[in-house]
Amino acid sequence: MACAASTEAEKALLPGQVRSQIPNQIYQTRSRRLRSRLTFANITLQLALQRELFQCLGFKSVASSIGRRRRMIKDLWYKNAVLYCLSVGTYMDANADGIGDFQGLMRRLDYLHGLGITAIWLMPFQKSPGKDDGYDISDYYAVNPAYGSMGDFVEFTHGAKQRGIRVIIDLVVNHTSNEHPWFQEARRNPDSKYRDWYIWSKKRPSHANTGMVFPGVQKSTWTRDPVAKQWYFHRFYDFQPDLNTSHPAVQAEILKIMGFWIQLGVSGFRMDAVPFVISTKGPDVRTPREQYDMLRAFREFLQWRVGDSIILAEANVLPRTDMQYFGHDGDRMQMMFNFQVNQNLFYALASADTRPLAKALNRTEKRPETGQWGLFLRNHDELDLGRLTEKQRQQVFKAFGPNPEDQLYDRGIRRRLAPMLGGDRRRLELAYSLMFTLPGTPVLRYGDELGMGDDLSLKERTCCRTPMQWSTEPNGGFTKSNKPIVPVISDGPYGYEHVNAAEQRRDSNSMLNWTERIIRMRKEVPEVGWGEFEILKTGDPAVLAIRYDWRNNSVLFLHNFAEDPREFECSAGLKSKTGDRLVNLLTADHSTAGENGKHCVCLEGYGYRWYRVGGLDYLLKRSEF
Ligand code: NOJ
Ligand code: CA
Repeated sequence: MACAASTEAEKALLPGQVRSQIPNQIYQTRSRRLRSRLTFANITLQLALQRELFQCLGFKSVASSIGRRRRMIKDLWYKNAVLYCLSVGTYMDANADGIGDFQGLMRRLDYLHGLGITAIWLMPFQKSPGKDDGYDISDYYAVNPAYGSMGDFVEFTHGAKQRGIRVIIDLVVNHTSNEHPWFQEARRNPDSKYRDWYIWSKKRPSHANTGMVFPGVQKSTWTRDPVAKQWYFHRFYDFQPDLNTSHPAVQAEILKIMGFWIQLGVSGFRMDAVPFVISTKGPDVRTPREQYDMLRAFREFLQWRVGDSIILAEANVLPRTDMQYFGHDGDRMQMMFNFQVNQNLFYALASADTRPLAKALNRTEKRPETGQWGLFLRNHDELDLGRLTEKQRQQVFKAFGPNPEDQLYDRGIRRRLAPMLGGDRRRLELAYSLMFTLPGTPVLRYGDELGMGDDLSLKERTCCRTPMQWSTEPNGGFTKSNKPIVPVISDGPYGYEHVNAAEQRRDSNSMLNWTERIIRMRKEVPEVGWGEFEILKTGDPAVLAIRYDWRNNSVLFLHNFAEDPREFECSAGLKSKTGDRLVNLLTADHSTAGENGKHCVCLEGYGYRWYRVGGLDYLLKRSEF
């Protein structure tokens, strides 16, 4: 059956593209009715037509059958990207005022290019009072003057583009700063149009002391505003009033913000606090309900404006709701951080028991063909262990953050990875090797490529947000000022005197050069991003074996989470004899299966292996689908 809306769709689509350019087979796959329900007030018929066209092009239901999968777009950049997260303010200060800036960041683009990352995730850089490191925005359409001008921003995205590096930015729209003119106007004037952009209550809601995201620091989710003489809702700190995200005008503004930055050259957004953005909010809402349709509207808008832009959702949710975020038809968020795997990975590192991790991998396996996980170890927040059992959590605390000052918000550890792992290079490599080989797209955090440490004398999460350590120059070469915005770590094993990019650059065995090499190899193993995986039996809970299959090629990864060496037998799990030969991609230690088709492997403590299954003629064997 041909597309009912085909003629209209042709009109809507495409400057320069005609119906005949869409393969017939694809064009005729549409079997589902047009979903015409539009959530946002300003989404027009044009978008519905484009959606119809997306269906025709096979964007829908791509996960459900191999036949459809063959029609998948083959160049979704985010499926196999290497993301690198940084904040402008702590990366490099070019004008010596102690605050990192876009000029400084631009000077470091060559470093990032050399490292091999393919996309930067830039943390909030818009105008902000800076009470939550920029996650409290007071003007969505302006660069924080301390970081530079709008011109500097565009120069930066251009410089990145020239080096083949994409940029995604944080989109913080669950809340604004209380200094945002919208909130100021809303609190002063009950008749202002902005009043309804926030959530108010005449009385203190009885559940005001529930639902805090920062327990122990944040006391309440409702605060009385003396000017409005009413209570306002704030899921996070009291200086971050929640936007009324169900309001059509707020939704329209969110689209406008996305459209603005997309126009300035970014490739998408890391959307902050997504479950809260889409939740119902109000004094009578005790059990918020997620309005998933909003996600579809965000995506439609974005792809209408720039087709290959994406949203990476920060949503620490249970696996059973993952598909609501991705969309069963792959029509919502392209990417999500895999918090489930993250927490179980740390449990596995702490306990040498990979079974819960394997379970988490299997539980999060399902995703639309166009969807992708963001795989990370540590980020700028605490390591949230809230999804583990109490016993598991205590085990991770004991191993990686036993002291009260290591822990935060009753659920997590606020340390950077290197000190958590006792600076043990074997364990660091194991952890990063996992991040690069578990299903998804790796997301590094600045400084982790050097094994940077933390400063626990700094409050809350600031301890792991210290400036990048570039060299042995004063203040690690971050700034010429002697008053950096956050103190640079100096002295001790993680001080810039010992841990810095310049020295590691010269040492071929450094963490930096290891990271560069592993990124390079990861890029040559696209099976991880695109393929399907199977966890193989090793008979040893300390060893995780995972194989990916994609386009007639397979790769196999082994990781030993135990401190002591482990010897075990493992089959590649393939029907053909191809699995009898494993070629090691990192060292010359290859493996040939025995008579029984099993490989006998001995992994050193915390050891890992990256194998190509078959041989190095794999590229000659790669199929088209
Ligand atoms: C999540 C961010 O990762 C965190 O740093 C921030 O404090 C909250 N969202 C509030 O925006
Ligand atoms: Ca500066």
